[in-house]
Amino acid sequence: MKNGKKVLVLLGSPRREGNSAILAEMISKGAMLAEGKVETVFLHELNIAPCKSCYACQRPRSRGCSIDDDMQQIYKEMLLADVWVIATPVYWFNMSAQTKLWMDRCFALPAYEKKPFLNKKIAIAMSYGGDDPFDSGCVNALRTFQDAFSYVGAKIVGMVYGSAMDAGDIKADETLMAKAEKLGKHLVSDDG
Ligand SMILES: Cc1cc2nc3c(=O)[nH]c(=O)nc-3n(C[C@H](O)[C@H](O)[C@H](O)COP(=O)(O)O)c2cc1C
Repeated sequence: MKNGKKVLVLLGSPRREGNSAILAEMISKGAMLAEGKVETVFLHELNIAPCKSCYACQRPRSRGCSIDDDMQQIYKEMLLADVWVIATPVYWFNMSAQTKLWMDRCFALPAYEKKPFLNKKIAIAMSYGGDDPFDSGCVNALRTFQDAFSYVGAKIVGMVYGSAMDAGDIKADETLMAKAEKLGKHLVSDDG
């Protein structure tokens, strides 16, 4: 029987073929092998304005975010997906600005659907240039995701992260590549 779980991959690096995108690609490969359906969004190419803190999205009977940009389409795709894969490089000891813009705008998601985060499955893919996940800022970024998604009731089901500086270098870490593919399969499995 077809699995058909929907996976939305959000690429937060400006490098379309960079290390975090490669990790996300391996996750996607695993998900597709397990019959999942994958959609990929390259945030850097889209027009996503920063949240302007108008709180229109928080008002009773709000119709959503007041900013009319590409985030409106992403909200729809997020709501349709069973799983979100967030791929980001570490920039200055945290997620990239592209990822943070998307994340801030997720504040409005509950205006489109009641409890949109509840039971949503999330995977994180990160790359960093330093040698160590702690002093590179990778763990700091992971903690940010953990705190934020635990606050809204979403579930981080897996994380893959590794050290690489130049685009593509991450491929040399074969163990990590295999781990990312396995995570992709797990994400769309019934026990994932
Ligand atoms: C603006 C900028 C800031 C960065 N800050 C960090 C950092 O704080 N810690 C780190 O380990 N690497 C840092 N790096 C290196 C990237 O995290 C590393 O090259 C990563 O593999 C890039 O992923 P990508 O190929 O997906 O873009 C930075 C790179 C840039 C361009």
